[in-house]
Amino acid sequence: MTTETLKSLDDAPITPMELERGQSIYDLFRDLREQAPIARTHVGVTLALRNRHVALITSDATRQIETESKMMQGIFDGPIFEFTRLAMLFANGSTHIKRRMPVARTFAFKLMDAMRPKIREMAEQMIRERIGKGPIDFVGEIATQMPARIIAEILGIPREDVPVFQQWIQDTAASIGMIEPDDRPQIEKSLGEFMAYVTDLLESRRQNPQDDFLTEYVKATAEAGNLDDGEIRTQILGLILAGSDTTRGSMCMILSEMLQHPGQWADFVADIDGLKRTVVEEGMRFQPIVAAIPRVALRDIDIDGYRVPEGAVIAISIISAMRDPEIFADPDTFNIHRTDLQRWHYGFGAGAHRCVGEALARAEMEEMLSAIARLAPGTKLIGKPPVLAPGAIRQVGPMQVAFEV
Ligand code: HEM
Repeated sequence: MTTETLKSLDDAPITPMELERGQSIYDLFRDLREQAPIARTHVGVTLALRNRHVALITSDATRQIETESKMMQGIFDGPIFEFTRLAMLFANGSTHIKRRMPVARTFAFKLMDAMRPKIREMAEQMIRERIGKGPIDFVGEIATQMPARIIAEILGIPREDVPVFQQWIQDTAASIGMIEPDDRPQIEKSLGEFMAYVTDLLESRRQNPQDDFLTEYVKATAEAGNLDDGEIRTQILGLILAGSDTTRGSMCMILSEMLQHPGQWADFVADIDGLKRTVVEEGMRFQPIVAAIPRVALRDIDIDGYRVPEGAVIAISIISAMRDPEIFADPDTFNIHRTDLQRWHYGFGAGAHRCVGEALARAEMEEMLSAIARLAPGTKLIGKPPVLAPGAIRQVGPMQVAFEV
């Protein structure tokens, strides 16, 4: 297509500020997708709506957003800014690679698979204690606890520190995304304390090496010799924070969908090991937690007849990509038996920044769902199904279940 025939962003539909009554975010994106392959938000972000647009994330025509996301919110210094400045997630090029490498090396699939028996044991214990106890707060008692306890275990957090460690996670997980101005003082305070704690933890492994992940990580960073103390510490904080709200929300939404589809739940109960992987994959397709992956255009980019100019922020909508009828048959139907799931699940992103905790997240979700199906196949959703709030990382609302045999 020649430049003359390219449409400008002004021609793309604008997303409404609010959903209409009874409309879901998935309905909204379906309508937008039918109008055009891209849309715009009120703050000028370009939304790429097609599954094939995920390729923009891996293309050299885009880069990750760095500290701009925080500066746009008026945050120019302090712990939240420091975290953003030093985390692998918000870095590009060689800086990203040097920060990611030691984590990727030590946080490998092999290590995470070795964690499985421990994860299974923890999941089973959490369920056993609650069978027949009536409705429980699944979000608070299970889905928040599990990722926090497992990462505490991986990092070798002393038992007596676990409660304060869990509190810090809850207080600071929002650092990754948009921050409500009123919440900022509390987040800054807790994040400052959390940073100091992780610094001490790393120092203790330098002094007293152990046979664990953190010691391996300290060794890997020392061998590489190209990260400063702030960067070394921040990658550990990044693992903790990036893995908490995401795993929690996903676990809830997958269980919720399964319990709303009793036939599919029965199929899962009958073949837990055979289906646990696809249950998680389909649940993450149907209700992705990371709504969109934003990037900056490094040059003019032509997307399906539209010209997105250099410097524009493009958010690849995972919500929309996961319901794209070009890829998924009957995309608005939850179906754990579908055969069109993609090899690389975009719920975990793509390219250089693809989730480094994927193996751990999968193990936690698969083992928790399996434990429920095995020990409490009569589990029921009590009250309304949970809903995800709008946002880059969508926060899960209340969810009650009763575990029954
Ligand atoms: C269901 C749970 C999870 C989901 C849906 C998820 C999703 C994602 C996505 C979409 C990205 C890419 C973001 C981008 O490209 O801008 C990402 C990156 C990342 N995730 Fe996850 N994640 C999950 C669990 C975890 C866990 C358990 C950990 C660690 C324990 C973790 C650590 C990270 C880190 C450190 C990055 C940054 C990687 C980089 O920049 O190179 N995540 N995740």
